[in-house]
Amino acid sequence: MQRFIIKGGRRLRGELPLQGSKNSALPIMAATLLCGGECVLTGCPGLTDIYSAARILNYTGCRCTFSENTAAVDSRDIRETSIPEQLMREMRSSIIFMGALLGRTGECIVSIPGGCELGPRPIDMHLAAMRKMGIDIKESGGRIVCRAAAGKAHGARLSLAFPSVGATENIILCAVSAEGETVVNNAAREPEICDLCEFLRQCGADISGDGESRIIINGRNDLHGCEHRIMPDRIAGATYLSMTAATRGEMILSNACISEMEPFLSVLEQTGCSIYTGENRIYLRSGARLKAVSDRIRTMPHPGFPTDAQAVLMAALATADGTSVFEENIFDCRYRHTDALVKMGADIQVLGKVAIVRGVPLLHGASVEATDLRGGAAMVAAALAAEGTTEISRIDHIDRGYEKIEEAVGRLGGEMLRSG
Ligand code: UD1
Repeated sequence: MQRFIIKGGRRLRGELPLQGSKNSALPIMAATLLCGGECVLTGCPGLTDIYSAARILNYTGCRCTFSENTAAVDSRDIRETSIPEQLMREMRSSIIFMGALLGRTGECIVSIPGGCELGPRPIDMHLAAMRKMGIDIKESGGRIVCRAAAGKAHGARLSLAFPSVGATENIILCAVSAEGETVVNNAAREPEICDLCEFLRQCGADISGDGESRIIINGRNDLHGCEHRIMPDRIAGATYLSMTAATRGEMILSNACISEMEPFLSVLEQTGCSIYTGENRIYLRSGARLKAVSDRIRTMPHPGFPTDAQAVLMAALATADGTSVFEENIFDCRYRHTDALVKMGADIQVLGKVAIVRGVPLLHGASVEATDLRGGAAMVAAALAAEGTTEISRIDHIDRGYEKIEEAVGRLGGEMLRSG
């Protein structure tokens, strides 16, 4: 089992180009199934989740190759619509292949992605929407058997109880080649949804309203392949900026998506960091001290503060002057990283969905275990700021979302090694 060994106490300083977005690349890879042609995705991050998506595509009969951040997918021949449980389990977001396979073939067998790390992650909204689009769904022994009653899905008027990112993506994927019009009310407005829709429009799909809460899709039969550049990863961006703030450093994040990162940047600015933006670059300079954030930091669907940036910002605020309060409104178990931060000397009290972070002068190194992807990244941020050496195990969680994180940190002058 590999580990990260991090020697803390160095101010991060330098320039880092932002990797492509994992959460954008995954649904777009699923969407290539719909085109029946060749697609080229540039700016695709080299991550374990992306390789899992490639394995699923290859299993269905597509040809997916990956080299130097470019994924090429040929989806002319599909021969398999039943995804083995083992492949589904490799990656939690494998469920988005359901909508894509249904859109392309009118049938699929998938399974509930197992072993949730952020508390229960039900897919009831996904299934209810598919049923309204004419899909018969039978669940047995963890397998979900789906078949379009009329051979093909049809359009529907849908209202989501919550703007779920995954459910919105699955609906879009199923609807772009369904019969007729689909209207999604209370749709998720995350930038990655817009990137997916942009890709699909380039393939010939008829979609409007993405980025707003009502998306309208008119099904078409004539989708084709295209070339698309994956948007930058706003969460990886938030992570590297938080690490830099935690170490009181200074950095330029290039290839950044500034407006998409605004909900995070406006909160980070309240810590007293100077932030300047322009031409896809974000410049951040932290003073010798960070201020606690006085307003409660409430995670919300976009354009609210992103839940995926909660843990990394918390790591920076662990040594701020004063008390910051987080309120996690998206996932039930999203404070699992706090035990590790406390082990490193942080003063954090969790009360249900609220976490109270009282800033301490300094953290110290410790031996900790990554609990989940963003929680693991928070441990890296804390370790870089801490006095002494930190060892982080279960780094497979971190590798799911950060491309060569130790090299990125090294580029900024941090001391981080992968061992084992
Ligand atoms: C996506 C992101 C994840 C991010 C999250 C929220 C990807 C690959 N993952 O996850 O990084 O943290 O959005 O921004 O893009 N829910 C239900 N029933 C459903 C679907 C969701 O109750 O059918 C609940 C979930 O349990 C959760 C909330 O809705 O509490 C938000 O989930 P959702 O927006 O669907 O997140 P994901 O798509 O899983």
